[in-house]
Amino acid sequence: MEVKDEMLPDKLLIHGGRKLNGTIDVQGAKNSALPVIASALLLCDETLTLGAVPHLYDINTMKQLLESLGAQVSFENHHMKIYVPEKISYNASVELVRKMRASSIVLGPLTARCGKCLLPLPGGCDLGDRPLDFHLKALTKMGAEVELSHGSIITSVNGRLKGADVRFDFPSVGATQNIMMAATLAEGTTYIDNAAKEPEIVNLADTLRLMGADIKGDGTETIRVIGTEKLHSAKNTIMPDRIEAITYLLAGVMTEGAVCVRGIDSNLFSAVLDKMADAGVCLDIFKNEITAKYVTPLKNTSIKTMPFPGFPTDAQPQFMAFLTKAQGISIVEESIFNNRLNHVDDFNAMGADVRVTDNIAYITGVSSLHGASVHSFNLRAGAAMIMMGLAAHGDTIVSDLKHVWRGYENLIPKLRSLGAELEIYE
Ligand code: EPZ
Repeated sequence: MEVKDEMLPDKLLIHGGRKLNGTIDVQGAKNSALPVIASALLLCDETLTLGAVPHLYDINTMKQLLESLGAQVSFENHHMKIYVPEKISYNASVELVRKMRASSIVLGPLTARCGKCLLPLPGGCDLGDRPLDFHLKALTKMGAEVELSHGSIITSVNGRLKGADVRFDFPSVGATQNIMMAATLAEGTTYIDNAAKEPEIVNLADTLRLMGADIKGDGTETIRVIGTEKLHSAKNTIMPDRIEAITYLLAGVMTEGAVCVRGIDSNLFSAVLDKMADAGVCLDIFKNEITAKYVTPLKNTSIKTMPFPGFPTDAQPQFMAFLTKAQGISIVEESIFNNRLNHVDDFNAMGADVRVTDNIAYITGVSSLHGASVHSFNLRAGAAMIMMGLAAHGDTIVSDLKHVWRGYENLIPKLRSLGAELEIYE
């Protein structure tokens, strides 16, 4: 069933203090599905078929974006089929790009496939600035002209892009994805140095190889792409969502219960599991099932968000929530985004004790949390607020949940299946 924006509630009333126990099946990864869906734009009169695509607001937006460019997309029961005809537009809709920053992932495919892309500037978001300079510098090196006009980025190239040696100042996930995709249709060989190594890059590279691309080194800091003239139809499956898995494992422990996540390899988030063990969580890892069990009062630990395989920034708000009741003083340093600590005030409104200095949060563990009325500032902060509500004594109202529905499929039934008591709040 298609998830329409207006379908899911904006506010939840959470009756906190219930232990979460049980097993959930992990959804397909939002941050893999989005670039993989965009990679279909590299095709010409061919079809990309995908399994395990999660039903999320952001997936809906990407589907609409591809349809607005001329693709035909069917999406039913986690199965997506994308037919891209010979003629497509290179003009991305401002309304859709403004709605979802990740729309910038069409820049590489459209520039390579159409020789042109018009991308409205996606603007910042509340994580801080979200520039695209790495993407544009690399496309320029590959022969594209880049200009800014009337609030849009316009890339253009006569004929095909040229393979080039590209190096990023920072291992940007989006820039690695855009350039890897663009390089598949370039003339010659492209080397990407200081590439992002996130597992979602490998899922995308696997899909591109199935489409006929020649890519090596994905998942390491150097990726080599030998360009080709045309790619062909392919079928692939979206990898499981490591951030969703982490969110539920942490929620279980925060409520002094035990949650098992099924259908995911623990190697996708070992940095987080190590820190959970550090804090005193009992972990049971068996093949692709991981259980995190509360056995003793949590101890303080410290994290610094880093590119993969370091601690993922997308798990930072959830892990900070998990630390609010850990004995002693914990430290959370956000090194990827310059404004990803705006959930702290709402944490403190629920009885937590968090102080922030220069993008570093100092969390003094408290014995209990209490309910409050709080907001979801963004996708991961919203998930963290729900976790806080589940662990707090009393009732919590979390509003602005449209952010959460961007990345968490079936969150309400999944939490209820674990014993959470929550209801839609009008
Ligand atoms: C991806 O965003 C994810 N989004 C983000 O997840 C995730 O937090 C981020 O990677 C880091 O892991 C998707 O995959 C759709 P980046 P992306 O380019 O690609 C700077 C979520 O919650 N930078 O790796 O935009 C940038 O400002 C979302 O699911 C430049 O300076 O992230 C940031 O500080 C949130 N210039 C850092 O690099 C550039 O040209 C990391 O950004 C590009 C990036």
